[in-house]
Amino acid sequence: MGKLTVCDHPLIQHKLTHIRDKSTNTKDFRELVDEVATLMAYELTRDVPLQAVPVSTPVTEAVGNVVSGRMLGLIPILRAGLGMVDGILKLIPSAKVGHIGLFRHPDTLEPVEYYVNLPSDATERMLIVIDPMLATGGSACAAIDTLKQRGCVQIKLMCLIAAPEGVAVVQKAHPDVDIYIAALDERLDEHGYIVPGLGDAGDRMFGTK
Ligand code: PRP
Ligand code: URA
Repeated sequence: MGKLTVCDHPLIQHKLTHIRDKSTNTKDFRELVDEVATLMAYELTRDVPLQAVPVSTPVTEAVGNVVSGRMLGLIPILRAGLGMVDGILKLIPSAKVGHIGLFRHPDTLEPVEYYVNLPSDATERMLIVIDPMLATGGSACAAIDTLKQRGCVQIKLMCLIAAPEGVAVVQKAHPDVDIYIAALDERLDEHGYIVPGLGDAGDRMFGTK
């Protein structure tokens, strides 16, 4: 089963509380999501392999470590996942970015795919699927399915807030995918919203509705 990591650093929890707050405006919401994405990227890249390289310091010759040539790809799920991309790119500027467009059908809550555009070498990269919300898990599973159908094998999932239901669905469908979240919330409500959650991530990010 894929590992579930809750990134519970105090700074992440502090910022997440302001993200949840319904009185936080769109500008602040966007900035806070960006900041939390940066902090979470630190945790996500903990196992990125290092390569020993020689380095000449002002004092002597030494051996240092740099991140090895293994490449990363960020795959935001549109729309809301877009809000986390820049925060991650601050730490990993050479990552390529692919996009998967999905929305939850309002009646069935089933994911509807409308756009896929991946880096040409996506199959060789470690891919991080990004979406602030893991609710029923339908969107995350559909995005991971899409990547696997195209031959991608190394996939992680990064979300801000998850419901236990969504985590279980992804872990069952994709046991090879590790999940990184900032908070594991209580449950889903009757409309498939995460409780306590933050409301509709896309609407709060882009000021729609
Ligand atoms: C939200 C969210 C996830 C999805 C999560 O997107 O950003 O993609 O719902 O729900 P699930 O786990 O039950 O699938 P939404 O469908 O509202 O689309 P949007 O980002 O375009 O607003
Ligand atoms: N999508 C959201 O944006 N919020 C939720 O709580 C659930 C799905």
